[in-house]
Amino acid sequence: KFLLGAALAALATGATAQTIGFSQIGSESGWRAAETTVTRQEAEERGIDLRFSDAQQRQENQIAAIRSFIAQGVDAILLAPVVATGWDNVLEEASEAEIPVVLLDRQVDSSDDLYLTAVGSDLVHEGEVAGEWLVENKPEGECRVVELEGTTGSSPAIDRATGFRNAIEGHDDIEIVRSQTGDFTRSGGKEVMESFLQAEGGGENICALYAHNDDMALGAIQAIKEAGLDPGNDILIVSIDAVPDIFTAMAEGDANATVELTPNMAGPAFDALEAYLYDGTVPPKFIQTESTLYTQDDDPMAEYEKRKDLGY
Ligand code: AHR
Repeated sequence: KFLLGAALAALATGATAQTIGFSQIGSESGWRAAETTVTRQEAEERGIDLRFSDAQQRQENQIAAIRSFIAQGVDAILLAPVVATGWDNVLEEASEAEIPVVLLDRQVDSSDDLYLTAVGSDLVHEGEVAGEWLVENKPEGECRVVELEGTTGSSPAIDRATGFRNAIEGHDDIEIVRSQTGDFTRSGGKEVMESFLQAEGGGENICALYAHNDDMALGAIQAIKEAGLDPGNDILIVSIDAVPDIFTAMAEGDANATVELTPNMAGPAFDALEAYLYDGTVPPKFIQTESTLYTQDDDPMAEYEKRKDLGY
């Protein structure tokens, strides 16, 4: 309802090109860079004028960008929210301006009346898939797990932690012994893994690493090698995203499993917006993307080839 005025105005002017503001989190990971690339490509193919804003990981920058998009009178806004809380006011402002907001890849804890739809994966399920892989593939006996969490307060960090715990619940021989944020970055993953290894007496008693994204896993792999251990064997590595570099790590035996998060959130988002702007078709509140598990048995170099040109 809040967009109908804008939709009708667009139709009345015969406008086909839409102007869409995109408040992106930043470029913390290879996956994030790919999402930006794919969003730009999708916009270009559809003749959309995409106004891009990089928030450099700061929520206040995202709020300022959204206010600027509202002032510019864009037709719609894409928001990849860095954290889950603190969006009510600015989303209300967009709603009052009759500008629909589509969430990309992360969730907010605001009322769902304040956005048109959210495109993303089931983040709890991703953690469950990773945890189930470990349950099925861990070595005999006690398994001490270290966890690299994503950005504190972000929905993937919260939900991927929950999902993994759901999966290992009741498996008393699996224990998460250390858990700390690496902020979804490769350097953060390396640094925190170094501290885990030190705190765990060099790391020989660590059975597995669960990283909330591949970039942190890749940083941790480096730290494990520098500590003289063999990632993928001495310490099993399971993570999330399916970026090209994790497939080369898998091909070399350094990583074991990843759960794919497609970087193409913009395609379904633009489809939903185009239908809504055209005739008011209301999309479902959540448009879910798939979460596929890949392991060393899935021809990692073929998977690498499929993804390597996507701007990761
Ligand atoms: O919100 C999705 C997560 O954000 C990706 O898994 C991670 O790589 C990114 O930084």
